[in-house]
Parts: sequence; C-alpha cells; structure tokens
Amino acid sequence: MFKGVKEHFTDRLYVESATLTEYERFIQLELKISPVIMDPFDARSPREALELVSNLLGCSLTSSEVATYLDKNDELKHLREQFMIPQVAELPSTDLKLVDGTKECIYFAGNSLGLQPKMAKTYIEEELDKWAKTGVHGHVHGTRPWTWAENTIEELMANIVGAKGAEVALMNGLTVNLHLLLLSFYKPTAKRHKVLIEDKAFPSDHYAVESQIQFRGYDPKRSMLIMKPRPGEEVLRTEDILETIDKEGDSIAVVLFSGVQYYTGQLFDMAAITKAGQQKYVNSGAGGLAGAFIHEKNAHSVKPALLGWWGHDLTTRFQMDNKMDLLPGIGGYRLSNQPVLLVCPLQASLEVKYIWTGHPLEEE
Ligand SMILES: Cc1ncc(COP(=O)(O)O)c(C=O)c1O
Repeated sequence: MFKGVKEHFTDRLYVESATLTEYERFIQLELKISPVIMDPFDARSPREALELVSNLLGCSLTSSEVATYLDKNDELKHLREQFMIPQVAELPSTDLKLVDGTKECIYFAGNSLGLQPKMAKTYIEEELDKWAKTGVHGHVHGTRPWTWAENTIEELMANIVGAKGAEVALMNGLTVNLHLLLLSFYKPTAKRHKVLIEDKAFPSDHYAVESQIQFRGYDPKRSMLIMKPRPGEEVLRTEDILETIDKEGDSIAVVLFSGVQYYTGQLFDMAAITKAGQQKYVNSGAGGLAGAFIHEKNAHSVKPALLGWWGHDLTTRFQMDNKMDLLPGIGGYRLSNQPVLLVCPLQASLEVKYIWTGHPLEEE
C-alpha cells in the first residue's frame, strides 16, 4: 500500500506540483504514515529531485533544508564511513578565515575522481610487501596472485553491471577499451557508416569515435550522428534516441552511449538503447583500471583486432610457444599483464559497491 501511495503521489507531482504540500498533508492525516513518503532518488534528474523536495518542504531549491532532508533520507549515507574524506584545511586554496578547517569537506567530484576507499591503501601495501618479501613468487602466491589478480575481482564488477563474470574484463583505461571494442564492432560500409553519439559525450569518447571514423577513411562530419537534447531541455529523452535509431537505423553502424552521463547524471536506458555497453571504473583512482563488456552471445563471433599475451588462455599462457590460444569473448581483448597496484584500489572500490547493493547498477 505504501508503494502505491508513493507512486500515486509521485505521479501527481509531475502534473500538479503546486498541490504537493496539500497532498502530503492528506496522506499524513488520512493514512497516518510517516512524513517521509517519497524517495527523491526516484526522480528522473537531479534537478527534478531538488524540485520534489523543495515543493515538499515548501522552501526554495537552494535552501539548506533541502540538503538536510536529502542527507537525512539518503539510504546510502552509511557508505560515507568507507571512504577517506578530506578535511577542509587539507584542501588547496582553502581560506581558513572563512571556514572551519577541522570539518570534513562536502565532496561533489564523483565522476572526475571519487573518494579513496579506505581499503585501497591496505591492499596496495599488501602487494608492495609481498613484492618486497617474495619477489617473483608473487605471480602465483598471496590473495591476489599477479598472474590472475584481475580475475579475482571480475565477479564483483559483473554483479554491479548485471553481467556474467566471463563477459567482463578489467583492463587498460576506458579510452583504450573503447578503441579496442570499436576496432571489432565498428565495420563501416558506404551505406552503414554512422556512429550515433550524444552531443555532450565525454570528450575522450568523442575523440575516440572521431578518430576511428577517420582511421577507416570516412568523414566525421558525415559519419558522426550527434544527438542534442530538445531546445530548452538538459537531458536526452529516451524516446528521441529510439526514434533516431529507428529513422537512421540503416546508416548507423554503432550506437555509443555511456551508462550514466558524466555531467548531468542522466541514467540512460541501456536495455532500450543498446544490448552491449561499457562500465567506468567506479572509485579506483585517477588513471584506474576500466572495465569492458561483450555479451556472451558474441563470444565466438567477434574477435579482437589487436592481440597481446594476456588474451591467451591462462592455462597455457606461460608455455611461451607463440601459438595463440585466444580466450573467447572479452577475455581475448586483454593485451598486457594487469597492473596489480591498480587492481588493489579497484578491488577496494568494488567491495564497497558490492556491500552497498548486491544488485546490478541499473536497479539502483
Ligand atoms: C564516459 C567517460 N569516457 C572516457 C573517460 C576517459 O577515461 P580514461 O582516462 O580511463 O581513458 C572517462 C573518464 O572519466 C569517462 O567518464
């Protein structure tokens, strides 16, 4: 019943926001439920969430009451404990005449660089210690043997993106993975040569697509199909994306969208837009390992264009006979020995997310 009320209430919000407070009073009086009756994270954009709460409280969007309400009702607030939060005085360019330097800062830079998970340092120290004490034996010993360190955490990433372990590889930076995947999936022809991408895609995604088109001898002006939100709107509507795919489908070779828009926070409807995608590297640190995904149905039909020894089946990789025994699917796209010191912070970060949800990202 609570859910029904909540949905009804939220539906009304879109059409009748002016009567919101009145409706909330009705719910409290008639149904005698707690005043916390909706989850602002149900909103379709951060702006809408702020509007929901400011309407509910009857105060302005920028009022501190809105922030306090959001903090108080945030189901994920306990996760704060698991990160290193910088103190105000430690941040560069802090004017200590204006602020209390002993306070923890309020941190908004989630996409550009998330906070350090507390376990990152412990895991890195474990590997440095193992290296110091056992040298080459570290390749096959310890909790994170360097020869298959990334394999020990792939399941965690797979759980977050709702994939199977074998469909995910943790390797390289995101742009490198994008290029490796585009080399296999972007097969332009005179008729079908376009890449559908959003206008404000992350710059590296934009450059990757532009350079791949040029690399194949096509003209980005003709082959980049760039989507903008409707005039006066900030985010793309799923219906518009689907309509473009429908209209331009015959000329589109690849549809390239991130899962979450890095600037607006828009969660794209991946299932509706595309069946394959990529996942960024959560809080693994600057230049951290990225993930890549290929659906298992393509495991044997799509091959990597470029090879390295880490794409070789692990059981025979070290026979060093120069006869490639390629792993199927995304595993075969691995090129280099994984940097174990980057596996450590990614592990710390994925463990936080894992405790947090245990469910695929989209459900959150
Ligand atoms: C959507 C997206 N694409 C590409 C990148 C670039 O990542 P990398 O430096 O690992 O290539 C980022 C970095 O934040 C990103 O958010």
